[in-house]
Amino acid sequence: MKKILIAPSVLSADFSKMGEEIKEITALGADVIHLDVMDGVFVKNITFGPKLIEDVRGVSNAIFDAHLMIVEPWKYIDRFAKAGADFITVHYEACKDRLKQTLIEIKNLGVKCGVVINPDTPVEAIKDVIEECDMLLLMSVFPGFGGQKFIPEVLDKLKEAKALIDSTGKDILLEIDGGVNLENIEDIKKAGANVIVAGNTIFKAPDRKEMIEKLRNI
Ligand code: DX5
Ligand code: ZN
Repeated sequence: MKKILIAPSVLSADFSKMGEEIKEITALGADVIHLDVMDGVFVKNITFGPKLIEDVRGVSNAIFDAHLMIVEPWKYIDRFAKAGADFITVHYEACKDRLKQTLIEIKNLGVKCGVVINPDTPVEAIKDVIEECDMLLLMSVFPGFGGQKFIPEVLDKLKEAKALIDSTGKDILLEIDGGVNLENIEDIKKAGANVIVAGNTIFKAPDRKEMIEKLRNI
């Protein structure tokens, strides 16, 4: 079986000590640091931009995964690349006709690229760009906030996404984001996801290390 990557979402971390939180979660076994960038326009919440990513880059050698929930993301990808993101993922819903070009621009900056789709966007919408992607991210909640309930219908979409990825013959990661917990992790993995984002489930756990291990090994 392919390796599972655990990606704590820092949206659920304590923002007053972001550097320490990222350092700690890396030491506890996180493979990926999932960084939720929100602009208050694409989603109804505002978080942080490239400056924070640049400032915390030095505290962790984990993979930095910038999930851009912003309109016109192509205007900022160079800033996130310079800040030290290893992956930049952009929403299909924010790019539409410019999606393929934006993915190519990300790769030209020497960064891995990903496309994200919301729970109500079909997998079919991104079939023409899958070959350009290093990662496909399926939202299992509507983006904007941590701690929401997992939408179970996304499990079928994961299976469909896995089949699409397999049809390319390429090594494309399949990431799931939103409401992941110990109740649904087994179904999520069975459906084919190999990058597991978890915000509240990890950061609010009494024992974060144990939670990372459970999510990895269940
Ligand atoms: C939601 C974000 C998620 C969120 C996940 O808009 O994209 O990454 O932080 O948080 P949990 O795991 O708490 O649903
Ligand atoms: Zn996210």
